[in-house]
Amino acid sequence: MKSTFLVSLGLLGGVVSGASLTKVNYPNNATSKVDMYIYVPDKVVDNPPLVVVIHSCQSTAQTYFQNSKIPWRSGSDKNGYITVWPSSPHSGTCWDVSSKSSLSHNGGGDSQAIANMVLYGVDHYKADPKRVFVTGGSSGAMMSNVMAATYPDLISAVSLYSGVAAGCFVSSSGGVDQWNNSCSGGQSKATPEAWGNVVRNMYPGYDGPRPKMQIWHGSADGTLAPGNYQEEIKQWTNVFGVSQTPTDTRKNYPQNNYQTDDYGDHVQGIYATGVGHSVPANLTASEEWFGLT
Ligand SMILES: *[C@@H]1O[C@H](CO)[C@@H](O)[C@H](O)[C@H]1NC(C)=O
Ligand SMILES: *[C@@H]1O[C@H](CO)[C@@H](O)[C@H](O)[C@H]1NC(C)=O
Ligand SMILES: *[C@@H]1O[C@H](CO)[C@@H](O)[C@H](O)[C@H]1NC(C)=O
Repeated sequence: MKSTFLVSLGLLGGVVSGASLTKVNYPNNATSKVDMYIYVPDKVVDNPPLVVVIHSCQSTAQTYFQNSKIPWRSGSDKNGYITVWPSSPHSGTCWDVSSKSSLSHNGGGDSQAIANMVLYGVDHYKADPKRVFVTGGSSGAMMSNVMAATYPDLISAVSLYSGVAAGCFVSSSGGVDQWNNSCSGGQSKATPEAWGNVVRNMYPGYDGPRPKMQIWHGSADGTLAPGNYQEEIKQWTNVFGVSQTPTDTRKNYPQNNYQTDDYGDHVQGIYATGVGHSVPANLTASEEWFGLT
């Protein structure tokens, strides 16, 4: 008991860490009431970068924060940036990536609530608005794509693990937080132009900078069919107006049986052969994509 207690206080290592995941009340003008949690490390840097980490289904901000496969807390401790952990209000805790309200800029849905967290993080914690990053796995990866499409003005870069293209889970009846079998099964296919239009239509008239996208997927994904990877690549290469032919390919990078394909400087795909759902987060590779190392 005693040693467990001391370990949890960090005393055995001679380091007392006061930082913990904290729920905060943020000004949220969205209809969707998403809870916000924040982690500010003890040694936070001045004007810190801010990373939004979006959990998967059947998870919460707290459990995702403690998940050793999602090592953003240790990155924050090491590199002094802030992490924000939204927690889904929906039963089953998937994100709403199906309704018009979440699939639109300022549409009132989950995406707007998370955008409000970013604005509050920048304002209240003096985070650097030019270094706001988004990551997530599975449903959190779908939401990362939706955030990139609905709030490109707030985000510099995205690194997402095992998701689907923005808008792929759209509900024909407008349902909130609906599962979509066509998309999850890999039957939702479209041209690059059509996928690009889905993104452009989520924030009509926007023509400013957009976040650069790093997209991971496993070839053995039995939850969100591997073909979704190619649809995401089609979508974002179209948005950036670049070819679907890679400009650079690295086999066995960043690890064995993974292949990294660059499509210019703004889109990178990492396809993990033999890996299922979801691909474990590679903190170093995501931090490198964000320019945090
Ligand atoms: C809600 O907040 C967003 C982000 O600050 C802002 O752009 C928008 O105008 C606000 N909407 C309303 C209805 O107040
Ligand atoms: C599922 O998503 C596709 C687009 O990926 C859409 O065409 C279809 O209508 C959606 N299905 C349902 C039942 O909403
Ligand atoms: C993660 O990616 C980095 C390169 O960014 C690589 O050096 C490292 O081996 C990868 N981690 C794992 C667990 O494979």
